[in-house]
Amino acid sequence: MKIDVAVSSLKLFKTDLLAVGVFEDERLNADAKAVDAMLAGELSTVLRKEEFKAEFKQTRLLSTGKNIRNVLLVGLGKKDEYDLERLRKVSATAAKAARNNRIKSFSTILHRIEIKNRSVAERAQAIAEATVLGLYKFNKYKTEKTDFVVESLAVLEEDRRNVKAIEGAVRSGHVIADATNYARDLVNSPACFVTPSALAEEARRIARENNLKAQVFGREEIKSMGMNALLGVSKGSEQEPKFIILEYNPTAKEKIAVVGKGITFDSGGMDLKPPAYMEDMKLDKAGAAAVLGIMQLAAKLRLPLHVIGAMPATENMPGGAAQKPGDVVTAYNKKTIEIINTDAEGRLVLADAISYVEKNYKPSAIIDLATLTGACIIALGYHAAGIFGSENLLEKLKAAGNESFERVWPLPLWQEHKETVKGELADVKNATKAGVADAGAINGAAFLSNFVEKTPWAHIDIAGTAWSPEEREYVPKAATGYGVRLITQLLMDWKK
Ligand code: BES
Ligand code: ZN
Ligand code: ZN
Repeated sequence: MKIDVAVSSLKLFKTDLLAVGVFEDERLNADAKAVDAMLAGELSTVLRKEEFKAEFKQTRLLSTGKNIRNVLLVGLGKKDEYDLERLRKVSATAAKAARNNRIKSFSTILHRIEIKNRSVAERAQAIAEATVLGLYKFNKYKTEKTDFVVESLAVLEEDRRNVKAIEGAVRSGHVIADATNYARDLVNSPACFVTPSALAEEARRIARENNLKAQVFGREEIKSMGMNALLGVSKGSEQEPKFIILEYNPTAKEKIAVVGKGITFDSGGMDLKPPAYMEDMKLDKAGAAAVLGIMQLAAKLRLPLHVIGAMPATENMPGGAAQKPGDVVTAYNKKTIEIINTDAEGRLVLADAISYVEKNYKPSAIIDLATLTGACIIALGYHAAGIFGSENLLEKLKAAGNESFERVWPLPLWQEHKETVKGELADVKNATKAGVADAGAINGAAFLSNFVEKTPWAHIDIAGTAWSPEEREYVPKAATGYGVRLITQLLMDWKK
């Protein structure tokens, strides 16, 4: 979609729909007053009759027959509860209202409502971001595209001095939302199309378009490099595994590595999953998809960092050559792993990828994103990802999480937890006998900690946040693109 800044007075402005915010507990603000005058007091009447109470996210459409053909009243809720996230939510709500009313081009002045400690640019960015995120639809595989498409948004600004800042902010918000929607598309796309090879091709395309360095290792290289944990997971599949690495800005001093789990389908392997919801296991590449989104943004936002995006990609299938429970593999860092459960495959592919980036790049931090455990969903639900690892990095992640509202919550990772994944036959085991019944999310993290030597590291379990069971304001049902905005925020604030 197109998002522009329109410089005009409210009086002279022409639009099919203008979104105007109203607080529940405040008389009309200056913008609403001007609109009220234009509507000969109709806005006041609606409010007085309490047909519209301006509760948070409540909307009401008023047709005017004037230059501004429709006014969409948007409830902002209580004034002291209003913040950037509420602005995102009402912005998405307004965009969806435009769509429901089949209005192709609409306008907003929501950025003019002040928020404590937030500039007009930050407010405009939030609107652009939430509008593009909120209007997301995945209809690639529908032969009839019946959804009405909103084509453009104009951010109406009267003050010329603000225009430049708002334009830049709108552009940032737009690219960030596009990259998130890109990750959503990839995760929503079925495993028959998004194979490890397709993911590698996608990475190459992104590299070409954004001037990134791309490396793709196939089965033979994975084998000869000794990435046997990744190789082992791939054995039951006809699809060739790929280890994909993208790099942005390799000459920058500060190096950050982001590793994304890229299981393009997780059947569970020999420890086959039950049929209910198995179809959702195309989501198991959400970590890798987020990394592809993040790498695009690193380039588009010209971050002053060397960013390394690593994606171990394979299917987890129970074919005749599949890895079996009880098998032992030697990982890239030479530690031996006893395979207790073939469905705990994410930690295996990450083990090799994490130790590979640590050894070959020596980054100043490693962050992995993985739909690692069902247990994390049980622990934290759908509104926070579980985070584990180095204290300092976790603090940074919490700040980025609160800022982007892709929130995170720390879980403990103690010596005692690390004891529980010590192997009997080999150095470590990939699961405990109890499986998900005993702090499964922590055990996953404890296992991974064996594959980082000394680099500050954070593990983000996105099993509950990468996929939403229901539609929310600017989060669609199914793939959410979680992680793109969180990590981009982290990288943007890295040196602050
Ligand atoms: N990909 C799954 C985790 C998952 C489950 C993600 C549901 C999203 C929604 C992962 O590979 C897995 O199967 N984990 C096992 C680990 C267990 C065998 C120790 C799990 O969580 O049951
Ligand atoms: Zn699994
Ligand atoms: Zn998995």
